[in-house]
Formats: sequence, structure tokens, C-alpha cells
Amino acid sequence: MIDHKQLIQAALDSMPNSYAPYSSYNVSAAVLCSSGKIYTGVNVENASYPAGICAERTAISHAAACGERRIEAIAIVGGKNFTPSDYCAPCGICRQVMREFCDPDEMIVIIARSVSDYKQMTLQQLLPESFGPEMLGK
Ligand code: THU
Repeated sequence: MIDHKQLIQAALDSMPNSYAPYSSYNVSAAVLCSSGKIYTGVNVENASYPAGICAERTAISHAAACGERRIEAIAIVGGKNFTPSDYCAPCGICRQVMREFCDPDEMIVIIARSVSDYKQMTLQQLLPESFGPEMLGK
């Protein structure tokens, strides 16, 4: 059972850690794993622009580095100047990274502006006909 408010609040709480001095577009994400634990991440930009990384991927890497291998849901908040004003949909690369650690039909993606103002969809809706670990026998 996903506690939407709790997951969105975790993303909102870590938003101040977003490092986006170049775009001023701050993003934060919180992933709920099968263990029941929540891991957060933020976008981390770089003076060499392509070296920057999205919030979703730092959150997923955070979870994986702590030993998690199954993600049930992710909440994403984003907007200019630390204001979570947008429904910040995950980029294509982040959708593919999510695909590694979930069942796309079960994985819930929440894009939120506040704990009560959000949209939710499955990863299958965001990334149909996807390539995943089972294609390589995993
Ligand atoms: N960004 C994310 O963190 N997640 C997304 O899904 C979209 C974009 C970040 C990357 C960059 O630091 C800033 O937003 C502007 O593209």
C-alpha cells in the first residue's frame, strides 16, 4: 500500500538539497522500495553541463546503493527556484532507469505539486513496449 502523502512529503523535504545553479530548475524524488523504506534524491548539475544528473536517477541510485532491488513507487516534485510548481514528468533516460528495478504494470509514478495536488500513472503508461532485464535473461 502506497502512502502518497508520505512519499510526496519525502520528495518535498529533500528539495532544498537540489543543486541546480545553471538551470535554476530544482527537482527532487522519493522512491518507495519493496522493503518499505523510502530513499530520496535530487538533481545534481555540473559546470560541464552533460555531467549533470536527474533527481530520479540519484534517488534510484541511492536505493540501489543501499541494497534495494525493487521499487514500488516514485514521487517527483519540480519547478524553478525551489518552488514545486510543475507536474514534473520524468525524462526518457529516467524512465528507462526506473524500468530496471520494477514491474512496469505495478510501478506507480507520482508527479506532484503538493501532497494533495498530484497525478499518478504506471511506468507502463510512460514507457510502453520497453526493454528490460528479462530480455537479457535476468
Ligand atoms: N531534471 C530532473 O532532475 N528530472 C527530470 O525528469 C527532468 C529534468 C533536471 C535536470 C536538470 O538539472 C534540470 O532538471 C533542468 O533540465
